[in-house]
Amino acid sequence: MCCYNHWEWRIFEGSAVADKRVYLETMGCQMNVLDSELVLGQLCALGYEPTDDVGQADLVLLNTCSVRQHAEEKVYSRLGEIGQVRRRKPDMLVGVIGCMAERDPDGIRQRAPHVQILCGPGNLNELPGLIREVRETGEPAVALEHDHSRKLPKYARTLEFDSIESLDLSRTLVPGGSVLQSYVRVQRGCDKFCSYCVVPFTRGPERSRPPANILTETRRLADLGAREITLLGQTVNSYSYSENGSIVRLSELLARVNDVAGIQRIRFVTSFPGDFTDDIFYAMRDLPKVCEYLHIPAQSGSNAVLQRMKRQYTVDQYVELIDRARAIVPDISLAGDFIVGFSGETDQEHADTLNLVERVRYKSLFIFKYSQRPGTAAERRLPDEVPDEVKSRRHAELSAVQQRISLEHHRAMIGRSVEVLVEGYSKAAMKAQLADQNLAPHIPWRRPDQLIGRTRGDEIVVFSGPASLIGQFVNVRVTDATALTLHGEPITDPVLPLVSPTSV
Ligand code: SAH
Ligand code: SF4
Ligand code: F3S
Repeated sequence: MCCYNHWEWRIFEGSAVADKRVYLETMGCQMNVLDSELVLGQLCALGYEPTDDVGQADLVLLNTCSVRQHAEEKVYSRLGEIGQVRRRKPDMLVGVIGCMAERDPDGIRQRAPHVQILCGPGNLNELPGLIREVRETGEPAVALEHDHSRKLPKYARTLEFDSIESLDLSRTLVPGGSVLQSYVRVQRGCDKFCSYCVVPFTRGPERSRPPANILTETRRLADLGAREITLLGQTVNSYSYSENGSIVRLSELLARVNDVAGIQRIRFVTSFPGDFTDDIFYAMRDLPKVCEYLHIPAQSGSNAVLQRMKRQYTVDQYVELIDRARAIVPDISLAGDFIVGFSGETDQEHADTLNLVERVRYKSLFIFKYSQRPGTAAERRLPDEVPDEVKSRRHAELSAVQQRISLEHHRAMIGRSVEVLVEGYSKAAMKAQLADQNLAPHIPWRRPDQLIGRTRGDEIVVFSGPASLIGQFVNVRVTDATALTLHGEPITDPVLPLVSPTSV
């Protein structure tokens, strides 16, 4: 096993491994999406070429998620399929990276013996070394954090001297990749230990990255064309970094990122309701680039369930927080996560969740059926006894309530003008075009003109316009709405960029 720091990595940059193709599939959250981008950039700098065909690949990597059992089963089923391909191509190297490699290396070794690389999310900077090691020795190579019990003193939990920093700092663009909307990590790990959750075990303790590194990365991305930056952390609002004797918190970090020329929108996810301080709402109100959008999972609307989940706040405290958010940032758009069917959840406790959702009126929700995870406090102490059909019914009930609220939220926007960052062609429009083409192949292919983008509040907007608008900010008047999407028409030329403040 090798350990590369930032400078060693630079040395390897020139030594390309010619004619190697890598297939990388990503499951899980935004952290994994970012990790995959960094890993792929790193491998491309070493001469690999990305492919989306497993059959063409010399190296196949699955970046995995352990948050629910279903996510892990999906990995095993993909590993089965990849194993079939590998029978015809024995030189193909297969690696499992990310949270599942960290959580259950022995399970993977047993169920998928053709996996030769295991690399946890905290060791991804070592991946090029692992690949070389397997190629040279023919033996499996492993890099995991393992020691999850590390207890670091508060505020010493920084990443200044941590070798994993090199992964983010040596960020290299994937050829053909877009940086228009980019993720930037501000924290690693999580210390909350909610009773149901594996993340503290797969990602290790919470560590905040140095503001200087975050800004270096953001400026580089801005120079390459990034317009929207999303700061990522499992509990992003608890960001805290000791710098010259004072503590930099998220609101200060937002102010510094707001000063980066070229960046026009800033988001931050995911917020933990327990640690939320009003300075973040004031930053959202006062900093022009910080979007009026907050992803703040409640998980349940019942105090008893929140207590069993060890979430460290009550329903009243959560509602007060949302009320304060709306008082300070009146048009704030809210997204949340809920788990249905957690251990012991009664019909009344589920009804309490429905009530909370009615009360808060989120723009959108992510709803999950509880999945008991090995190693968590809930697995040790609380039975997973809510039957699956009850979980499914509660999931459907909560989805139906939210669908109505999302539709009302979107309908209330009809007639308004919204600023949209255009991301590309609408997939639905592309699909419809392809279907037309299949049904009537004599019709000449027309480029779809349905564009898709997002508002500052993260609402999805579809409208007609030329491809030249992709990557631009456009004002769109909302003319129609569904629960998922706003429809509209552009009303001006692309919006001029905000006046760029001088870069710090
Ligand atoms: N750090 C974020 C979320 C990380 S996991 C936060 O605390 O808000 C993303 C979501 O997956 C969680 O918000 C939760 O709703 C869901 N989740 C986590 N563990 C789960 C489990 N064991 N079963 C079902 N859903 C789970
Ligand atoms: Fe998991 Fe809770 Fe940490 Fe979120 S805050 S990652 S749910 S332990
Ligand atoms: Fe999954 Fe790991 Fe993210 S468990 S949700 S990929 S932090």
